[in-house]
Amino acid sequence: MAYQRCIKCGTEYRIDEIVYFCKKCGDILEIKYEQCELVEAVRNSEWRKIPLSVWRYRHFMPVDDTAKIISLNEGGTGFHLCERLAKHLGLRRLYIKNEGENPTGSFKDRGMTVGVTKAVELGVKSVICASTGNTSASLAAYAAKGGLQCAVVIPSGKIAYGKLSQAMIYGAKVIQVRGNFDESLDAVLKLSEKHRSIYLLNSINPFRIEGQKSLGYEICDQLNQEAPERIIVPVGNAGNISAIWKGFKEFHDLDLIKALPKMTGIQAAGSAPIAQAIKNGSDTIVPVSAPETVATAIRIGAPVSWKKALKAIRKSGGTAETVTDEEILDAQKLLARIEGLFVEPASASSIAGLIKLVENGVIDRDERVVCVTTGHGLKDPDTAVKMSEKPVEVNSEISAIEEALGLKKQVAILAR
Ligand code: F0G
Repeated sequence: MAYQRCIKCGTEYRIDEIVYFCKKCGDILEIKYEQCELVEAVRNSEWRKIPLSVWRYRHFMPVDDTAKIISLNEGGTGFHLCERLAKHLGLRRLYIKNEGENPTGSFKDRGMTVGVTKAVELGVKSVICASTGNTSASLAAYAAKGGLQCAVVIPSGKIAYGKLSQAMIYGAKVIQVRGNFDESLDAVLKLSEKHRSIYLLNSINPFRIEGQKSLGYEICDQLNQEAPERIIVPVGNAGNISAIWKGFKEFHDLDLIKALPKMTGIQAAGSAPIAQAIKNGSDTIVPVSAPETVATAIRIGAPVSWKKALKAIRKSGGTAETVTDEEILDAQKLLARIEGLFVEPASASSIAGLIKLVENGVIDRDERVVCVTTGHGLKDPDTAVKMSEKPVEVNSEISAIEEALGLKKQVAILAR
């Protein structure tokens, strides 16, 4: 039987209890399983025959009634061998796990399919989250599919247009607050404690993390039951890096993989409390009160899962790095132009971080590296348009188009 457990004092809670923080010490929770049950699941189930997806791993998920699963067909995202980018950086082998290929365009769908399924199992009628955009888009979609009422609380003017349009069209009640993400999260935490009937689906909800750990499982399966030497992940609220690590750890404990990857977290320079703690060798983070970055998805100053993230990075022998907005946007453009992958700025931070860590000699050129790109580029069309060359406007005549393409001179030469 799976159960919930406090990450600090180890107090256990039943799997069907709605609890977000430990009642004894106030820390966050994680889902634990009896190891023998997981061993049994690996031995008995025919999971390897199921196509790659979150629910391929349903025996590793805390869901009792599989008939109640709320799914939009999440997971099973592309694992791109990036030979051109690898060559550009002088790396031996580089893969990109492209989470923008999920149903609502980000990795959040992995967590929401499990979180919303749990909400339905628990019999709740309404769900809520605070969000920098992607969580709200994903929750709104899964709530719609599950027939639940949904409210999303977002920092006013600070979420990318694609994400806002998703939350709106899926029918969520969209509340824009005059404040940043950290303030929005603080408000919904208090609200969901006060109104117990509204189920909170931010990543402090450990069921979200269970879904997201499938990202780690999938990478192992896409590498034929091996872990890469290093995983590079953009970090905001720090749920995802913790979830991916949990996935690798569980597969390792089950002897499904022989080694573990170095977990490497990348933060935007203006919102980097975790990277700073790693650089300073500190056991705690100093929250950033006014986080700022063009990568609005990770514009977070007080990440709620910081303890889990520091542990994942340190235990795995990984590291954390900061990247500037300029480096993020350059990496976004580079990836689009040499690999044909259009990812949103926060996602490109993993590529910017890779470039920096290779240049600094932290990443060995022989390492097999996997960068996770977390969200689709169309989530934030405004930034992409702003930083690209403007389209050229001409009359609809061949000669005008020839001139714009620089073909006029060639044609003249050929005609001679
Ligand atoms: N990349 C993207 C595209 C994101 O949307 C987020 C988080 C992250 C990376 C960071 O992941 O928080 O687990 O460390 N977005 C959240 C949201 C905060 O509300 O959509 P994390």
